[in-house]
Amino acid sequence: MLRTHTCGELNAKQIAKEVSLAGWVHKRRDHGEIIFIDVRDAYGVTQLVFDPKENRQMHKKAHELKSEYVIRAKGVVRKRPDGTVNTKIPTGEVEILVSALLILNPSETPPFEIDDSIAVSDEMRLKYRYIDLRRPRMQKNMRLRHKTNTSIRNFLEKRNFVEIETPFLTRSTPEGARDYLVPSRLNIGKFYALPQSPQLFKQILMVSGFDRYFQIARCFRDEDLRKDRQPEFTQLDLEMSFVDENDIFALSEGLMKAIFKEVSGIDIPTPFTRLMYHEAMERFGTDKPDARFGMELANLSEVLKNTKFNVFKKTLEKEGSIYAINAKGYAKISRSKLDGFIAKAKDLGAMGLAYFKCENAKLSSNIDKFFEKNELDSIKNKTRAEENDLVLIVADKKSIAQSVLGSMRLEIAAESGIIDDKKINFFWITDFPLFKYNEEEKRWESEHHPFTACKEEDIKLLDGKNLEKIHARSYDLVINGQEIASGSIRIHKRDFQEKIFKTIGIGVAEAKKRFGFLIEAFKYGAPPHGGIAFGLDRFVTIFTKSSTIRDVIAFPKTQKAIGLMTGAPSDVDDKQLKELHIKKVK
Ligand code: AMO
Repeated sequence: MLRTHTCGELNAKQIAKEVSLAGWVHKRRDHGEIIFIDVRDAYGVTQLVFDPKENRQMHKKAHELKSEYVIRAKGVVRKRPDGTVNTKIPTGEVEILVSALLILNPSETPPFEIDDSIAVSDEMRLKYRYIDLRRPRMQKNMRLRHKTNTSIRNFLEKRNFVEIETPFLTRSTPEGARDYLVPSRLNIGKFYALPQSPQLFKQILMVSGFDRYFQIARCFRDEDLRKDRQPEFTQLDLEMSFVDENDIFALSEGLMKAIFKEVSGIDIPTPFTRLMYHEAMERFGTDKPDARFGMELANLSEVLKNTKFNVFKKTLEKEGSIYAINAKGYAKISRSKLDGFIAKAKDLGAMGLAYFKCENAKLSSNIDKFFEKNELDSIKNKTRAEENDLVLIVADKKSIAQSVLGSMRLEIAAESGIIDDKKINFFWITDFPLFKYNEEEKRWESEHHPFTACKEEDIKLLDGKNLEKIHARSYDLVINGQEIASGSIRIHKRDFQEKIFKTIGIGVAEAKKRFGFLIEAFKYGAPPHGGIAFGLDRFVTIFTKSSTIRDVIAFPKTQKAIGLMTGAPSDVDDKQLKELHIKKVK
């Protein structure tokens, strides 16, 4: 070893010992004659002293040292003089008087300092990721991610789960995004798809008799990226045989409890609150509710059923709904800000946004003349409006009114600082609809994925017209308004699976082509099974209090799916294209 100790290890116990350290030049301070160098490695920082009175040759050599040089230093540990002890770091009591110094590798001036407090653009951080990863916060994030993986493996190992790897070069899986395709050289004109998730393989593993599978699996999805989405991301993927929803909930809650405790020392109460999909939409306007603050939606459709205000009246006649939120303390906002809210609501898809200010103990607005006193009182009661509050109202198709106000609720809460970021709020969302109607393509599609079972009592509805009324046996785990995991009890019978495919417009021939191997496997004794997949990057983001999943992924991609450090995606040689029989069209 080039070192006897790490840079985070020395303290008063080693005083007078000769030691060797190896690491990077972190900071250099010239104090008159004496030069101090902080040497850094993965474990911490130690102060080296170069005193010309003690060793003229070493002091001369220390002048060569610059930021991020890799060095090895040998010397005796000594107590720092009184008044110079640094209580902020574990090695702050001691320093090393250097007697031998070796420059293992010089460094060019790095593009930015290894210091968390310095703001660096995302572009620079991703281009020089190796420098960014040296920063303490990123080192901490990566270690915490590793600890999370270890904790997951320990937990599942104790419960008989088997970790099994599934292929990357495979066929398309139906998770709703575009596939990344890989051309096959040996099978000209054919393509592999990188898996959007191991969904079909984990189900096949159940048919194979592995009744408890897991994988910390890489998934690939060509979709529009946001701060919680990456084109390649990691799932903790699970599947179990002979289970129902309650088994999956209990296992997931135990897992979450163990990880939160082991990784962040946080005790989380279980079981988590369960909320049915329609209830989540009714109260929060989203299936990813954040209940760390109030401001829940109020349904005004009933109290305004006799309204004379034409816009509201027409909406109710068309079986639409009227919902409201109470922006607390917002009555005094400027006209331009209010116009901003109206524009926002329209951007989000609403026809408009009505408002009432609660001032002098009553509701007033540009439209108040159209409302009876009892109606205004009801609006006030339903929204719990108090002095200086602003009630925002959307009358529209139910789903639009809910989702627009759901988004505005989050935006206003974030802006007004009412979200307590110390709170952790968990929800199971259940009873999702099995299908949703795709207006553009004029056809039904699966809300989760087509392998999801439906509630026993709703099976009869499959032959009718009201497909939206069928409830799925699927569930999402939501933490602080973010979808962290998603899963379902699966279909395990061949004929039923084929029926679902048919309902969403996948005919027998197409089903055979795309998922034939699964249907074939179902012929041979498939056990009832179900599972879940957690977005690992997302919950590590929560542990590390990061603002984006990029900060918990060692080598993430940009919004445009570019690897700035490697330059991927890149051009390839004509020879490679020729081998694959691929021609570029301009
Ligand atoms: P789903 O597609 O909902 O389900 O994915 C499961 C979880 O993975 C995370 N996730 C992502 N994280 C980062 N970047 C992305 N682009 C991204 N997409 C999804 C989310 C999500 O909840 N096979 C099913 C699971 C099952 O049914 O067992 C599936 O993949 O946290």
